[in-house]
Amino acid sequence: MNQKLATIEIIRRNAPSDPAQAQVFMVPYAPEKTVLQVLLEIHARHDRSLAFRRIRCNRGVCGACLVAVDGRVERACSTPMAERMTLEPVRGFPLVKDLVVDLLDTRT
Ligand code: FES
Repeated sequence: MNQKLATIEIIRRNAPSDPAQAQVFMVPYAPEKTVLQVLLEIHARHDRSLAFRRIRCNRGVCGACLVAVDGRVERACSTPMAERMTLEPVRGFPLVKDLVVDLLDTRT
């Protein structure tokens, strides 16, 4: 049986001064999967260089996994994946790399 694939576009920067680049990954779609699980899957199976925050509460409490999902700021660990979505770093914080921002620094 063919599994339905989701299209995940990630807007990435290797360094804050680099131009943003969109990268598309195809991953198996499952409505019970969270955005964080999708990122873990992409990291494990497609691109080990993808940077995102992953080791925190994993229960939608701490806010460490914040990411922009189709322009909305969401907790990756408690937001269900969609068949097509664009992930970007949260705006208003200094970028570290890819989807990681410095949430403690609000100077930008
Ligand atoms: S890891 Fe704490 S809210 Fe997502």
